[in-house]
Amino acid sequence: MEYKNLVVTIEDQIAIIKFNRPNVLNALNIETLLELEKILDELSNNDAVRVVILTGEGKAFVAGADISQMSKFNPQEARAFAQLGHRVLSKLENLDRPVIAAINGYALGGGCEIALACDLRIIAETAKIGQPEVNLGIIPGFGGTQRLARLCGAGVAKELIYTGDMISADEAYRIGLVNKVVPQDKLLDSAKEIAQKILQKGPGAIRLTKTVINRGLDSPLETAKELEIETFALCFASGEPQEGMKAFLEKRKPNWIK
Ligand code: CAA
Repeated sequence: MEYKNLVVTIEDQIAIIKFNRPNVLNALNIETLLELEKILDELSNNDAVRVVILTGEGKAFVAGADISQMSKFNPQEARAFAQLGHRVLSKLENLDRPVIAAINGYALGGGCEIALACDLRIIAETAKIGQPEVNLGIIPGFGGTQRLARLCGAGVAKELIYTGDMISADEAYRIGLVNKVVPQDKLLDSAKEIAQKILQKGPGAIRLTKTVINRGLDSPLETAKELEIETFALCFASGEPQEGMKAFLEKRKPNWIK
């Protein structure tokens, strides 16, 4: 798979997608977003990949939307750009396998929004994250106002977006924006370690968990609980729990159905 703005490697059932425009701190232009959409479409049809890691080349994860490109937009073009960003990040959020953001450096604006659309976020202790759009006279356009408020609460989201502050990795951990802070040189290994742990678990159970949590969060609580009950039952139709529980009782590791 050849991309101009991404480097994609697949190894041990883990796909690593690296944003690769280091000269502009991996800023997201339309072309990069379309490439991200293409690889997500390809991965959604590739059963050999069970976990995805996103990271960036150089000193940034992604420093936001490409300001050179955005500076020329009229309102119609801005709407189309936000629609594209939302479409691609929804595909990322709903990819039916876990996605880990390994935040190696600046994750700003659209970069923070990409991380928010991932399932888990691990950040290097030297990285900075934030939603600085108001510095440019705009608001977050790829889901930041909504996903950040849902993840960290409206008060925290409003503070970060109103001030445009870039916060440290430790502060991001304190407010629940990231799952883990690790030394820069351990970032990818830490992400792979989590991926490896996930790979040991029932693949169907992992897929269904993601769907239930994501769909449940968008539903009233009673509907979400019903969804959990139905999905719990559905697990038993796959053969996976039969193997998982048999393995437990036989004191061995499960041999998951592929
Ligand atoms: N778009 C386009 N180019 C960018 C960029 C961006 N988002 N971020 C950095 N660059 C470019 C710089 O213009 C610079 O290019 P030149 O070498 O040609 O001058 C190069 O990348 C290196 O950047 P700096 O020299 O600025 O690096 P620095 O270390 O001094 O500063 C930084 C780093 C604090 C991250 C700074 O680059 C910065 O503030 N970037 C912009 C961050 C931002 O505002 N992001 C939000 C964009 S809006 C958005 O994302 C909307 C949305 O929700 C969709």
